[in-house]
Amino acid sequence: MTTYRIAVIPGDGIGKEVVPAGLEALHATADRFGITLDCDEFGFASADYWQRHGTMMPADWEQTLRGYDAIFFGAVGWPDVVPDHVSLWGSLLQMRRTFDQYVNLRPCRLMPGVRSPLAGRGPGDIDFVVVRENTEGEYSSVGGRVFEGTDRETVLQETVMTRIGVDRVLRYAFEHAERRPARHLTSATKSNGISISMPYWDERVAAMGQRFPGVHVDKLHIDALAAQFVLHPDRFDVVVASNLFGDILSDLGPACAGTLGIAPSANINPEREHPSLFEPVHGSAPDIAGQGIANPVGQIWCASMMLDHLGHPDAGAHLLGAIEDVLAAGPGEAPLTPDLHGKGTTVELGRAIADRVRERTG
Ligand code: NAD
Ligand code: IPM
Ligand code: MN
Repeated sequence: MTTYRIAVIPGDGIGKEVVPAGLEALHATADRFGITLDCDEFGFASADYWQRHGTMMPADWEQTLRGYDAIFFGAVGWPDVVPDHVSLWGSLLQMRRTFDQYVNLRPCRLMPGVRSPLAGRGPGDIDFVVVRENTEGEYSSVGGRVFEGTDRETVLQETVMTRIGVDRVLRYAFEHAERRPARHLTSATKSNGISISMPYWDERVAAMGQRFPGVHVDKLHIDALAAQFVLHPDRFDVVVASNLFGDILSDLGPACAGTLGIAPSANINPEREHPSLFEPVHGSAPDIAGQGIANPVGQIWCASMMLDHLGHPDAGAHLLGAIEDVLAAGPGEAPLTPDLHGKGTTVELGRAIADRVRERTG
């Protein structure tokens, strides 16, 4: 029987609270499906590690993590201790790039039992996935400051788009759209204002679209697209976006679908040459960290995506079903966390989902 090796990195803040809940549900599901997991926990990619070592990760982090089948990640960032750009470029963003996790898959669904802030919207009205380019684009380290300290001080940061980099994420998005019933792909652009990189992105979308005649393609400028997320979220199926646009849309979508706390993400290396990394969309949430009230569902949904990725879609679907059952029970019945209008804690909600994994049939 295969044993999957999982590297667990809780990180900072609520990462350290939601990861144990995620592991409890993961192990309950693995036990139920006879899947063997061998998990090792690491304390790096955290402010604690930074305080002890002056770096975010050990020098041999790449060698260490390379041996794992997947990385189960919480959240990193504690700006009171380390500036965010230092902690993120020293950890998560390094991992995404070094392991060529060029697809960031971020499903967004209005779940039964969850209240959307959008009037009149119910389950079924929001069910799309953001496919975010994850290794280049606006997130580049090309640039710098010149004439510092003078009145000619100038700051430049380039957007980098490569043909390989753009085409590979677009191909993934089209293939993904082809497998969904609606077969509809929306591309986020801004070719009216960003006059070099975004027209290039549009050209590559049009070229890739030729190869997928079964997929209906449209494009919207990111500003109009953001408005449509709020006004007509039901018109979206697969949304493909550059790194920054995808980042913004993947917080906005879950906010429209009730809470950022349930949103998962999979940082995937589709070629499987490197480990993929599964982490909630949210961050370390310093404003609620330490209170035990963070919603663990985003982390638990990540466990479901990780099981899919490891080749166990039945187990992944079972875990997602357990999440849906517990959310559908509502704050009166289930220990939902405050962001879901309940009074439950991270531990209670995580346990309710793990229990449901063991109980539910199918
Ligand atoms: P955040 O996602 O941590 O929090 C935004 C808001 O959402 C906060 O009000 C928070 O309380 C709430 N929230 C987030 N997750 C929640 C959950 N599970 N349950 C209930 N409420 C939840 O974003 P931020 O405040 O911009 O960032 C905080 C830190 O996290 C920063 O250091 C940032 O750089 C980092 N960050 C890390 C990641 C990551 O590791 N992938 C992602 C985003 C932000
Ligand atoms: C995310 C986060 C990161 C990103 C930050 C923390 C660098 O917001 O995973 O969405 O922008 O990719
Ligand atoms: Mn983000």
